Amino acid sequence: MAQVAKKKAALEAVKHVKDNFIVGLGSGSTTAFAIEALGERIKQENLHVMGVPTSYQAFLLAVESGVPITTLEEHPVVDVTIDGADQITPELHLIKGMGAALAREKIVASASKLNVIVADKQKRVRVLGEGNQVVPIEVLPFAISLVKRKIVDVGGVPVLREGKGKLGPVITDNGNALFDASFGEIGNPAELDVRLKMIPGVVETGFFIGLTDIVYLGTDSSVEKIERLSK
Ligand code: A5P
Repeated sequence: MAQVAKKKAALEAVKHVKDNFIVGLGSGSTTAFAIEALGERIKQENLHVMGVPTSYQAFLLAVESGVPITTLEEHPVVDVTIDGADQITPELHLIKGMGAALAREKIVASASKLNVIVADKQKRVRVLGEGNQVVPIEVLPFAISLVKRKIVDVGGVPVLREGKGKLGPVITDNGNALFDASFGEIGNPAELDVRLKMIPGVVETGFFIGLTDIVYLGTDSSVEKIERLSK
């Protein structure tokens, strides 16, 4: 079952947390297991650890799990961030953002000394965009129509993400909208990332290129560790 695989990967990642660490708390269903396990370690081992949540979801779960919260203003350097991913390549390039938390996730990852990704093995791909995976793109509401046109210009098919249980667009924790854009298989994600980021009104893309240090990929019976070869 995917839940078992996710939990196994999350438990490995939590082992990277040491006493007095500032920990980036990622978003999504896999990281949720890590936040709960971190709360458990804090209780059992009396650790002095604080978390920087990447979303309202992570914030609420951290409070429930007994993980004290801090901010990047108080702790601008994060020791380790544990987060999930939607696709992972052998080079440890990622697509993230299916949970709409990509902007804060990328900010916290960029502030981190070590980035650990947790996922079940199904997230592993040969190339980003495989299997019609979309690229989430967070956009200022004022710029929706412009950005839509410009995404088409760079070869994408953008769809404004609609809410579930709410009419109209999904609004992110930052008050923005999201496009899910299809590009097919993406040969050069770093270049596409730059082209998308150059569009006025684009806040962030779901490409995480060169940020990840370690990936734990879980199955029902094992966890595979993949490390980035060079910084
Ligand atoms: C949140 O915006 C995402 O980046 C998640 O980290 C990603 O979607 C993985 O989520 P799951 O662990 O729920 O698959």
